[in-house]
Amino acid sequence: MTTPPTSLERNAPRGARIVGTGSDLPEEIRTNHDLTRTLDTSDEWIRSRTGIGARRIAGKGDKTSDMARRAAQRALESAGLTGRDLDMIVVATVTPDRPLPSTASLVHHQLGARIDCAAFDLAAACGGFCYGLSLARAQIESGMARHVLVVGVELLSRIVDWTDRGTCVLFGDGAGAVVLGPTESSAGGRLLSTALGVDGSLTESLTVLAGGSEEPTSAETVASGRHYVKMNGQEVFKAAVRYLSEVSARALEQAGITADGIDWVVPHQANSRILEAVASRLGIPNERMFLNLERYGNTSSASIPIALDEAVRSGVIRPGQHLLFCALGAGVAFGAAVVRW
Ligand code: COA
Repeated sequence: MTTPPTSLERNAPRGARIVGTGSDLPEEIRTNHDLTRTLDTSDEWIRSRTGIGARRIAGKGDKTSDMARRAAQRALESAGLTGRDLDMIVVATVTPDRPLPSTASLVHHQLGARIDCAAFDLAAACGGFCYGLSLARAQIESGMARHVLVVGVELLSRIVDWTDRGTCVLFGDGAGAVVLGPTESSAGGRLLSTALGVDGSLTESLTVLAGGSEEPTSAETVASGRHYVKMNGQEVFKAAVRYLSEVSARALEQAGITADGIDWVVPHQANSRILEAVASRLGIPNERMFLNLERYGNTSSASIPIALDEAVRSGVIRPGQHLLFCALGAGVAFGAAVVRW
């Protein structure tokens, strides 16, 4: 379906558009059946509760920056640009190579970016990619930057407790990236709206307790497993349904588009039951959700750009279609965006 530009597109003198996408996924596939060898769980339990069938696990030698760089290079290649064209690099991650320097600095160096190109990590957990998009859009629309790289990357396999069946079955590793640039027309990939939010009363529902200033890493924190992800699944589930619906509705309203006008929702791939509930609240049929969580699980900030790259390269998403991105994670931080492809 090809539609004419919205009034918002016509009126905005300078817009931001996605000019390239890329992704990187580890080769190792760990299926639900594989997990049953060491965990008291089953393929049936995991699939029926979450929709997940397998996840990718990064090789021992691979770091977050390696996957980020590969995804970024593919995004730059598809945009016909190089690292030297970038004015800003945003790496959304909660699993950086090290607490410092930022993973974005490592990626900056590996891409050969200019010294006057800014680079930093963004910590908004699974919401990180939407936060990065919003920031990139503001930089480009204000004229402060021309090309911005936004990467979502996670090696969650390094921070989950592989003996905790309530959390480890959900997560996987991966990286996705987009390059954004300016547009003064209704050219494809234009960001029509971005909406963000946080409910800080729910910080305890998804957290890593130790390793920060509150509880520095010690032999004791490691022995008690406080450096691993802890989650209250039901609290997160309820928050996700509520806030993904709310922030998506806000993004739709700001873009001047109704749910009927959305061709594809490319959501954060957390859980198919959460997404079905969100689709029903928004009045969008399930068939318009682009899902790949069956194969990759929840890759946090990487899940939307991985899904977007897959949908674009396979021709599922076509020029002129309207897309809705929405994500929520620890914080709980959430965000959404509407894009005209
Ligand atoms: N395999 C088998 N049984 C499991 C299990 C697993 N992998 N994980 C938990 N269980 C068990 C629990 O121990 C519990 O057993 P009990 O009744 O004997 O105590 C039972 O299943 C029910 O546990 P509960 O936590 O109530 O399950 P649930 O229906 O809430 O489903 C989630 C758990 C995690 C799948 C669900 O809460 C969820 O998806 N939440 C959202 C999580 C999410 O998406 N987080 C990331 C957001 S970015």
